[in-house]
Amino acid sequence: MQTNSSPSLNACVFGASGGIGAAFVRRLHAEPDIARIYAGARSTIEAGPKVRPFSFDLSDEVSISEAAQKIGPPDLAIVTTGMLHSADVQPEKSLKMQTPEAYAAAFAVNTIGPALIGKHFLPQLPKDRRSIFAVLSARVGSISENRLGGWHAYRASKAALNMIIRNFAVEMARTHPQAIVVALHPGTVDTELSQPFQRGVAPEKLFTADYAAERMLQVLSELTPEDSGQLFAWDGARIPF
Ligand SMILES: NC(=O)c1ccc[n+]([C@@H]2O[C@H](COP(=O)([O-])OP(=O)(O)OC[C@H]3O[C@@H](n4cnc5c(N)ncnc54)[C@H](OP(=O)(O)O)[C@@H]3O)[C@@H](O)[C@H]2O)c1
Repeated sequence: MQTNSSPSLNACVFGASGGIGAAFVRRLHAEPDIARIYAGARSTIEAGPKVRPFSFDLSDEVSISEAAQKIGPPDLAIVTTGMLHSADVQPEKSLKMQTPEAYAAAFAVNTIGPALIGKHFLPQLPKDRRSIFAVLSARVGSISENRLGGWHAYRASKAALNMIIRNFAVEMARTHPQAIVVALHPGTVDTELSQPFQRGVAPEKLFTADYAAERMLQVLSELTPEDSGQLFAWDGARIPF
């Protein structure tokens, strides 16, 4: 990926312990123009020659602001955290299954946490060159494409994330005209998050995390500031909000 012509770009991956996050770290490690990859997780992850682990928790804003101070301006920041199910939360199949707890959990991880990362990292993006802030959203967060229903809290938290990305893009265009702020849909990817929902997915439509990360880095490499504020799929197609 050519993020610009400098041989010493800094990348930052939030959620490096996750399936897709770890794959981004691996793929970025192989990129010759990337000098350092700051890899954030709430657990310990392996360092590599170019990998600088750091710890943060989405529910702890201080941990995010401290990370921003430590890391400095990233040329590429990718937020790969997210939650669809947990020990206490299962995606709703009908409106009767909704609970305040599930909404609170989904919004805390999928919406508020990434918004706080933007709060502390977007102002740090370089003003004099191209930079990228990307968050992993999901196609199911598109309101206009929703024909299936269900998964109320997850869908709503990703739709809200998409709105926040549009808002951030509008604001950043005023101060950082070369910045690109986008949401990405990775496809259906074989990770812990999708594991309970993979039945019925055709094998050729269930991607490895490495394939998804490679395709998304390719998409990012081709975006321009005019693309800022939008949601793109792994194949480069724009998904309407
Ligand atoms: N897999 C798919 O098919 C698919 C499809 C569409 C969209 N997505 C989106 O892609 C993103 C990555 O998903 P994935 O499949 O890689 O899921 P995953 O393997 O379950 O990874 C989720 C990541 O989020 C982190 N996380 C959760 N809560 C956190 C918190 N409070 N603080 C810090 N980190 C936290 C997890 O950290 P721990 O390891 O500490 O739990 C983990 O690193 C998500 O936003 C997901 O919604 C995935």
